[in-house]
Parts: sequence; structure tokens; C-alpha cells
Amino acid sequence: MKTLVLTAHPNLEKSRINRAWFDALAEADSVTTRDLTAVGGAGMAFDLETEQALLLAHDRIVFQFPFYWYSAPPVMKAWMDQVLSYGFAYGPGGDKLKGREFLVLVSTGGPADSYHAGGYNNFSMDELLKPFQQTALLTGMTYLRPFVAHGMAVATVEQIDASVPEMLAHLTDPELDPKVKQARLLKALAEDPTKAAAVS
Ligand SMILES: Cc1cc2nc3c(=O)[nH]c(=O)nc-3n(C[C@H](O)[C@H](O)[C@H](O)COP(=O)(O)O)c2cc1C
Repeated sequence: MKTLVLTAHPNLEKSRINRAWFDALAEADSVTTRDLTAVGGAGMAFDLETEQALLLAHDRIVFQFPFYWYSAPPVMKAWMDQVLSYGFAYGPGGDKLKGREFLVLVSTGGPADSYHAGGYNNFSMDELLKPFQQTALLTGMTYLRPFVAHGMAVATVEQIDASVPEMLAHLTDPELDPKVKQARLLKALAEDPTKAAAVS
């Protein structure tokens, strides 16, 4: 499985968590990293053919970014607006991403407990990431569970270091596709009905 990580950070040099993830991913097997700020330049301009060929050459597409105003930094949106074009990602003949996998890799400044009903950010990450989920669904990709690191505005070096292997394990988890996990659980159930309560 080949993974393409599209990183949208306005200043990766000054980043702490996203830089650590980017560097680890650059060393990982079967992973292509792409710093969108460096590629797009000041005008955030992307070459359609290059970007779309990269998408077609990979099975799992990852959007990596720090959470800015409950979304991604503008370079991610610029890339989406230009690259996910009519006839490629949607519309007649626009089925080129169909069957690929998609996931979000995101860091937040706010702590985990703020991203709940009743927390000061009120909404969960699953709710706030809905535009990305629907983009994946509209383009025919399978939306995989996101990897979120919270509280990163004040993270210690130890927390950042600890997040790296967790993030790599998540991105390479063979059961990240919900159909794969469900199939294993249902198989276990068929083999031993006493496990019914454990998998329902
Ligand atoms: C313009 C801006 C907007 C931000 N908006 C949010 C936000 O909506 N929610 C949040 O939890 N953190 C927010 N933050 C904090 C960043 O998400 C946090 O600093 C970042 O994830 C740290 O990653 P880095 O070390 O790679 O830069 C924001 C930071 C900036 C600069």
C-alpha cells in the first residue's frame, strides 16, 4: 500500500508537532511526503497534472495539518480547489479517486476535553472534520478514522516524541478500513457465538 501525505503547514520550519510527523513520515516505507507550502509557493499555485498523477500513484491519501480556526490552513484549501477538479474527482468521468482511502492527520492547540459537547470547543473532531469526510465520500474514497493530537500548543518534547510512533502505527493500521475490522469481528463471531456480546 502506497501512502501520500500532503502537508499543509504555513511554516514547517517553525512547527513542532507537524514537523516531527513530517520528518518521521519522510523516513517511512511506502510513504511519499509533500510540503504543500513549499510546492505551491507564495501564490499557492499547483500544477494539476503533477498533483493528480501523484494521487493516482497512491492508495491512501493523508491530509496533514495543524487545526486553524476549526479547519486547515489556506494552502490545503487552495490545493483542494485546484486539484480536485471536475472530470477528475467529481462530475462526468470524475471517478479517478474512487476506491482510494483518505484520512486526516491533525494537531490541535486545544485539549482533548474541549472537543466535546459541553467542552469549550463544543463540538467533536468528527463533527468539525465533516467537510473533509464529505469531500472523501463525494470523490468515492473510503474515509478512515482521523489521527488527532490534542493540546499541541503547549506540548512537551516528550509528548511530541510519544506521538510519533502512535501516529505511524495509526497510519499503517491494516484495520483502519472499517470494513476490514468489521469483517474480522464478524468472522470471530461466526466461529464462536459466545463472543456475540463482545462484538455488537
Ligand atoms: C491561526 C491559528 C489558528 C488556530 N486555530 C486553532 C483552532 O481552531 N483550534 C485549536 O485547537 N487550535 C488552534 N490553533 C493552534 C494550533 O492548532 C497549534 O498551535 C498547532 O496544532 C501546533 O502545531 P505545530 O507545532 O505543527 O505548529 C491555531 C493556531 C493558529 C496560529
